[in-house]
Amino acid sequence: MSAYDAIAELYDPWSRTVTEDVGFYVAEARKGRGTVVELGVGTGRIAVPTALAGVPVIGVDSSPGMLDVCWRSGETAGVSHLLDLRLGDLRDPPVTERVRLVTSPFRAFLHLGTEEARRQALAAVHRLLEPGGRFVFDVFAPSAEDIEETHDRWLEREPGIWERAHWDLERRVLTLRVRGPEAEAALDLAWIPNEEWRALLAEAGFEIVACYGWFDLRPYAGGEDSVWVARRP
Ligand SMILES: C[S@@+](CC[C@H](N)C(=O)[O-])C[C@H]1O[C@@H](n2cnc3c(N)ncnc32)[C@H](O)[C@@H]1O
Repeated sequence: MSAYDAIAELYDPWSRTVTEDVGFYVAEARKGRGTVVELGVGTGRIAVPTALAGVPVIGVDSSPGMLDVCWRSGETAGVSHLLDLRLGDLRDPPVTERVRLVTSPFRAFLHLGTEEARRQALAAVHRLLEPGGRFVFDVFAPSAEDIEETHDRWLEREPGIWERAHWDLERRVLTLRVRGPEAEAALDLAWIPNEEWRALLAEAGFEIVACYGWFDLRPYAGGEDSVWVARRP
């Protein structure tokens, strides 16, 4: 069971306005020359536009409910033949193929709750990539302002869809509660500082090609979001 199962039908309306990353990931997929593996594929918010651009996607997710929504979206868009959806874990994805691009959009890697889990997932990505292949993902670490503005407050993100952030600074875990008319879930996201991502990527054998501060490719300058492009040498 995944916490996402309960909100699988709510996820797309909840993230309706999150569109800034779609063009970025689709452009990366077009450059990748071949199948993309998306880890934490969710409802296909990125995978379906990627398939619409003609790029096949192997999508891995631990939530059957999210995969079901993804499958339906792919069918509606007429691209289900380009989507290969697999139930599995980020730490040990059920993928034997080797590819030139692995992605993990919209902070999916923050669902790895421990250092060990992050290490396992990065080692798995490394294995999936051909030499020269890239791993592209985005994460965040909160600012003091963000914590101050949102801590333990219910905010209406979309009409009828509420969220509440609880920031545990000691454990560096955000527990995000999401509540819609018919469903509710609590999602844990564990953040680490940018330098720790840099060190973990290096330790896993990646070269860092770029660390952007946003999907418009501005350089990372200490903000909340970071978008990483790492390469298996
Ligand atoms: C924030 S959503 C991102 C979905 C999609 N990539 C997007 O951009 O909309 C995170 C996804 O990661 C999945 N996930 C969380 N932990 C996972 C794990 N350990 N293994 C596989 N998938 C996981 C969730 O089920 C969810 O679909």
